Amino acid sequence: MRGAEMNELRLFREDGLRIDGRRVDELRPVKMEVGVLDKSDGSAYIEMGKTKIFAAVFGPKEAHPRHLSQPHRAILNCRYHMATFSVEERKHPGMTRREIELSKVIKESLESLVFLNEYPRSAIDVYIEVVQADAGTRTAGLTAASLALADAGIQMNDLCCGVAVGKVGGRIVLDPSEEEDKHGEADMPIAIAPRQNSIVLLQLNGRMTREEMRLGIEMARKGIEVLYSVQIAALTKRVRSSHQGGSGRY
Ligand code: CDP
Repeated sequence: MRGAEMNELRLFREDGLRIDGRRVDELRPVKMEVGVLDKSDGSAYIEMGKTKIFAAVFGPKEAHPRHLSQPHRAILNCRYHMATFSVEERKHPGMTRREIELSKVIKESLESLVFLNEYPRSAIDVYIEVVQADAGTRTAGLTAASLALADAGIQMNDLCCGVAVGKVGGRIVLDPSEEEDKHGEADMPIAIAPRQNSIVLLQLNGRMTREEMRLGIEMARKGIEVLYSVQIAALTKRVRSSHQGGSGRY
C-alpha cells in the first residue's frame, strides 16, 4: 500500500470526514482575544484547535543599541518562541534554528503591514509565545501578532490572517492538526492582508501540483475570511471594553 493510501485510511473516517470530524475545508474552532496582558503596549491571544499562542508588543520606543536605529524608520524585532511545555517532547528553552527562521519570516510579513516610516529612530518589539502547539503555529502567531500591533495603536495598512493548508492522504485540507501534519505529504502556510487581498507569507514543505496549490490557496482564502471576521470581532470587543473602563485582561 502506498504512503498516501495508508494515510487516507488513518486520517479520514469512513464517512469521508477527517479524524477530528471536520470537512476538508473546515477550520478548527477559533478563539481570539485582544488586550490580554497588562505589561505590554499591545497584546492578543489566539486558539486554533489545541494551538494556543500569546503575542505581546512593546513600542514604538527608543531603539537599543542606538547604532541599530534607522533615521527615517522604525526597526521591527520579532521573536517567535515555543515554551518548553508546548510540545510533546520537552523543547529546550533557548531559540532553536526553526524558531530563528520562523521569527525572520514572521518579521518580514509584519514589516509589510506596519507604517515603519511613521516612527523614525524607534524600535517595535513583537514577542510570539506558543504555549501549546498543535500545528499551524506560525500562521496563528502572525494572526495574533497583527492584533497585538493594532492593540498597541501602531499604524498599519492592514491586519494579517494566516492558516495552513495540507496535503493529507492525497487530499487538500484546511488548517491541518499536528496529527495530519505529521502524516501528511505537504504543508503550505499562507497569510493574507485581508483588506488589500495580498499574500504576505507563503511557504511550502513537501510537494503539491500546480492545481493542488491553486485549490489550497482558494481554501485558505475562504478560511481567512472567517478568521478576519473573528479578528474584527475581537478588536471591536477590546475597543468597547476600554471605552467602558474595563481592562479585559487576564
Ligand atoms: O507550527 P507550524 O505548522 O507553523 O510549523 P511546523 O514546523 O510545520 O510544525 C508543525 C507542528 O509540529 C508544530 O505546530 C508542533 O505541533 C509540532 N512541533 C513539535 O511538536 N516540536 C517541535 N520542536 C516543533 C514542532
